[in-house]
This record gives sequence, C-alpha cells and structure tokens, in this order.
Amino acid sequence: MQYLSNKHVLLGVTGSIAAYKAADLVRRLREAGAEVRVVMTEGAKAFVTPLTFQALSGTPVHDSLLDTEAEAAMGHIELARWADVILVAPASANSLATLAQGRADELLGALCLAADVPLAIAPAMNRQMWADAATQENVRVLAQRGVLFIGPDSGEQACGDVGEGRMSDSETILQRLGELFSTGSLAGQTVVITAGPTREALDPVRYLSNRSSGKMGYAIAAAAVEAGARVILISGPVSLATPQRVSRVDVESAAEMEEAVKAHIENAAIFIATAAVADYRPVLQQQQKIKKHEARLTIELEKTTDILAMVKAQYASTFCVGFAAETHELEQYALGKLEKKRLDMVVANRVGPAAEKTAGTFNSDSNELHVYWKEGGLKLELASKNKLARQLIALVAQRFSLFDATAAKDNNVIAMNKIK
Ligand SMILES: Cc1cc2nc3c(=O)[nH]c(=O)nc-3n(C[C@H](O)[C@H](O)[C@H](O)COP(=O)(O)O)c2cc1C
Repeated sequence: MQYLSNKHVLLGVTGSIAAYKAADLVRRLREAGAEVRVVMTEGAKAFVTPLTFQALSGTPVHDSLLDTEAEAAMGHIELARWADVILVAPASANSLATLAQGRADELLGALCLAADVPLAIAPAMNRQMWADAATQENVRVLAQRGVLFIGPDSGEQACGDVGEGRMSDSETILQRLGELFSTGSLAGQTVVITAGPTREALDPVRYLSNRSSGKMGYAIAAAAVEAGARVILISGPVSLATPQRVSRVDVESAAEMEEAVKAHIENAAIFIATAAVADYRPVLQQQQKIKKHEARLTIELEKTTDILAMVKAQYASTFCVGFAAETHELEQYALGKLEKKRLDMVVANRVGPAAEKTAGTFNSDSNELHVYWKEGGLKLELASKNKLARQLIALVAQRFSLFDATAAKDNNVIAMNKIK
C-alpha cells in the first residue's frame, strides 16, 4: 500500500464511463491517509452523482465555478491552495484538450491553472480516441509541462473494443501518486523529532501547558518519512493521528521528553525540536488536589532542562534544528538562539495576536516560516503546514548534505574547553 498521510488530494472526475471507478479510488486514497476533495465536471455528473463522492470523501463535492454560494464556502483559489496534488481520474479526451489549452471555463480547468502543485492524470477513453493524433498531441503538450501521466492500460473496454485506453487500477494510481512525494533526500538517515506541548503537573488533576497543537511537528515527521528517513517522533499530548511509517513515543512532561530524547538520540543524524517544551515546571507537585481556601495562591516554578541545547552540547555531530515561536523581535531571538545553542538551523514563526492576521497560529493549518542558518536564511511563504514541512525537509536535507559532522564535533570540543 502507498502512504499518503495527510496529503490533500484534489480529485477531478470527468465525463468518462470509468467515472464509477473514481468512487473506489476515493476510498483507497482515504485508506492511504489522504484527505480528498472531489471536483466534478458537468460531463462527470451524467455518469455518477455528486452524492456518491460526497459520501465517500466526507466533504461536499465542488462542481461550479460561477456560483456565489460555492465561492463563499470554499472559493476556487482557496481550493487550489488547499491541494498538495491534483489528480484527474478518469480524464476524458475532452478534459485533456481543455487542460492542454489552459481553458478555465469549468471549475476543474480553473483549478489546474490556479494551483501551483503537481498535476497527475489518469486517462480513460476508447482506444481510437486515445490513439487519435489530436489526443496524442494534447498528451505530449501536457507531459512536456511536467504533468504526470498514469496509464492508460490496455485491455477490454466498456464499448467492447480491446486496446489501450482503460483507466489504470486504483492500486497503480496510488503507487504513482505516492512516488510523487517520495524524494529520497534523507534516505538511510535517522531523524528524531519532538512535537506538541508538555504538561507540568501541579496536582493530580491540574497542569501547566501551552497552546501547541503538534501539527507542524507531525507534518515534518511525515515529510521526513517521504524523504526516506527513519523517523522517531517524541510527542507531547496531542490529538493527532501518527503519520504512517513513523515510530511514535508518547510523553507528557518536559522531564519525560528529555528522557525519551536521550534514549533515542544516539543513532540520530538529525534532531528537529518542534515541541513547545515548558520552560518552567512547579517545584512541588502536590499529591492531593489543591483546595481553593486561599484568596491568592503562589506557585513556585523552576527551570526545566533545555533539551535542544543539551542535545547539541552532548551530540555535536547531530544536525540540530530548533524552532522559535515568538510574539515579537522574531529575527533577533531566532539568531540569538542559533548562536547561543550552536544550532545548525533555526525555524522561526510568529505566534500570538500579531500572527493571527498574517500567518498561522499554534492550532492553525497554515503558517509562514523564517529559516536561518549560520551563512544565510530564507522565508517560506504562507502555506499549509504540510507543504511547509516538505519545503523545510528539502532545506534540511540540503544543509545536512553540506554538514561536516566530524568538524562540528571538534569545534564543539574547542568551544567547551574555552568555557572551562
Ligand atoms: C456512454 C458514454 C460514455 C463515454 N465515455 C467516455 C470515455 O470513457 N472517455 C472519454 O474521453 N469520453 C467519453 N464519453 C464522451 C464524454 O462524456 C464527452 O466528451 C464529455 O463532453 C466529456 O466531458 P468532460 O470532459 O467535461 O467531463 C462518453 C460519452 C458517453 C455518452
């Protein structure tokens, strides 16, 4: 089975007799972990009802471009931004012509123009239609633009002919889609990632925590797996499903997270610390529930271990990526963290009221990131956390390929000696 954890697949269904096969495809995509939204052409609706796809995908079908209500619900640009990939299956001969010409008179064509994501097409048509010079010319034009063609297969056709033009089976389509996301840039590497908040107990029922949702860390874990890494995800309490092929270790407090990191970091080439670990914990953890007798209550706090700084100090040959969630002075704090903890990369994002207008917040599905390393930096523009995670992993893989682990270790020994 191919893994498409959290991938946003925009499935375009067009007017082919194979449209009924797209129903199975939706089910299989969801089983593989993808979120699916279906766009139907007018032609497609003559073959299968939108209700079928609504029931199978769990979301309303999109079928209209010039409809004020549909635009108000999830406009075509928003839908284009939502997608990680557009898959047209089945793709009719007419839809190939539409896409080759760049027409936007139906929603699907407009989305393909508006989206800056890979386009995969699984054609389905009579063998003569497929072999026709006009269709072949359209295929050539689209392939030249980088469109991924999946099939068609040969065999018996709905019209009784035998030949090339059958839509590829769901298994093959899933396989090829999965390959689109598999970069292999971290093949053979072990990556340890922390994610989510920690909870610092005050008494048996109360704790101090923060608003981290863990979404960014989980998206990075999925992206690292796609890049071929073995991923260990050390997670605070979150309500997120574990991405496929990720080994997850659940922890609650900062101390537990520290222990779990120590237990797994030895063989890691890369450590990515996205978790919002509590900086302070109560000095005393009451064994019984604190009663509300007093008008004021003072709780004494003590510092927790800085896990990221600890890892870099003890395992200098591990490529360490830190996260800085700041309400203000983003660049200054991020660069300070990079230098002070001797990190290899820092990823900064804005949180709090200032962030809500422009970028994502802790619980949002989108974000905007500023990435810094010793020799430079770049901004990853506002996008879904899944998309950002893939961009970030590509950047980590690139910087990691230039990383000299032995020199990092030696430099660290020199630095530690200077401190002594
Ligand atoms: C019964 C029937 C089956 C059809 N099957 C196909 C097909 O498998 N592939 C195809 O390219 N066109 C097929 N067509 C023609 C398309 O439905 C027609 O070109 C339509 O305009 C496509 O619309 P769309 O590309 O906007 O979805 C079929 C038509 C009929 C009446």
